[in-house]
Amino acid sequence: MVGNLTSEDKGDFEHFMLKEIFDEPEALRQTLNGKIKDNKIVFSEFKFEAKDVNKIFIAGCGTAYHAGLVGRKAIEELAGIPVEIDLASEFAYRKVLWQAGDLLIVISQSGETADTLAALYKAKEAGIPVMAVVNVPDSTIARLSDIVIYTQAGPEISIASTKVYLTQLLVLYLLALFFAQEKDTLPAEELKAYINKIAAIDQQVEKALAQQPTIKEIASHYHNANNAFFLGRGYDYPVAMEGALKLKETSYVHAEAYAAGELKHGPIALINDDVLVMALFSQDALVEKTIPNINEIKSRGAITIIICKESLQKYCLEYKNRIVIPDTDPLLAPLVAVVPLQLFAYYMAVFRGTEVDNPRHLTKAVTVE
Ligand code: M6R
Repeated sequence: MVGNLTSEDKGDFEHFMLKEIFDEPEALRQTLNGKIKDNKIVFSEFKFEAKDVNKIFIAGCGTAYHAGLVGRKAIEELAGIPVEIDLASEFAYRKVLWQAGDLLIVISQSGETADTLAALYKAKEAGIPVMAVVNVPDSTIARLSDIVIYTQAGPEISIASTKVYLTQLLVLYLLALFFAQEKDTLPAEELKAYINKIAAIDQQVEKALAQQPTIKEIASHYHNANNAFFLGRGYDYPVAMEGALKLKETSYVHAEAYAAGELKHGPIALINDDVLVMALFSQDALVEKTIPNINEIKSRGAITIIICKESLQKYCLEYKNRIVIPDTDPLLAPLVAVVPLQLFAYYMAVFRGTEVDNPRHLTKAVTVE
C-alpha cells in the first residue's frame, strides 16, 4: 500500500513507477487537450499580453528543474525571449536584477515544495508576476501564483517523477510556441509544423515505450554497476541530467550527467571497465561531435549504452547495447529520449531489489527548505 492507494490501483503493473511511465501518452493527450485550436496555441490562463513579456526566469527543484532547462532552450530558440533558470533552492539567495516585463515561471509537481515557494515569494515581493506549472490542483503554489497552468498527468504516486516530467516539458514547449506565435518570431509555416509535431508527440512516446524488452534486457546484464555517467549535447544534456537523477533515486547507483564535450576536462579520469555510460544521440547536428567523445570512453573499457534516434543508426551500429528511439524533431526529442532512461532506472531498481516506488530518505513533496 502506498499512501491510501492499494496495489489494485496499479492494475497489472508491479509498481506505480512502471504504470506511470506507461501512462505517459495519455498524460500528454490530457495536457494537450484544448491547447491547440485551428492550428493555434491557446492559453486562456494568461491574464496579460504574452507579447509584453521581455524576460523569463524559471525556478524548480529536481525533475522540475530539469524540465525547466529544456524549457529555457525552447523558449529562447522559438520565441527569442531571454531566459534565466535557477535551482529554486539557490534562487532565494542571489541578487536578481528584475526589470519591467519580467515573468517568473515556477515548476512543481506537488505545488508544495518549500524551495520553489521561496522563489515564488521572492518574485511576488518584487511585484513580478508568477506563472506556475503545477500538477496538484489547488496546491499552495497554484493558489499563490498569478497564472496557473496545470499539467494534466493525474496523481503521481511513485516518488520518482516520470509522467509529470513529460507533461511539464509539454507545457513548456507549448508556452515557447505560444510566445513565438504572440511575438511573431517564427515564420507561419515553421510554427504550424511545430504545432503539428507536438500534437502527435504521444505517438512517438508510444513507440519509445515499445523498447521496454530491450531496456529490461540491458538492465538485467548491468544492474551490478555502481557508477554511471549520462552524456549528451544540446537538448540531450538536460535529458541526461534527468536520466542520472532517476537512476540515483530509484536504484541507488551513483550517477552523474555531463555535457558530452565536458568529460574530457577532468571526469574522464574516472572511466574504467566498471563504469556504465549512457549516451544520447538525438541531436542530428551534434552527433558527429559526440561520437569521438563516446569512442574515447569506449576505448577506456566503459560499458557503453547508446540511446539512438532511428535516422542516426549509422552512427550507432558498432555499439552492442543500443536502444532505438523514433525519429523526432531535435527540439522536441527530450519528450521521447527520456523514456528509455526512465525505464532503465526502473529496471535497474527492480534488479537491484530497491524499494522502487518509495526510495529511502525521499518524500513526494519536500516541504522544508
Ligand atoms: O513537487 P516538485 O516537482 O516541486 O518536486 C521537486 C523535486 O523534489 C522532485 O522533482 C524530485 O526531484 C523527484 N523525486 C524526482 O523524481
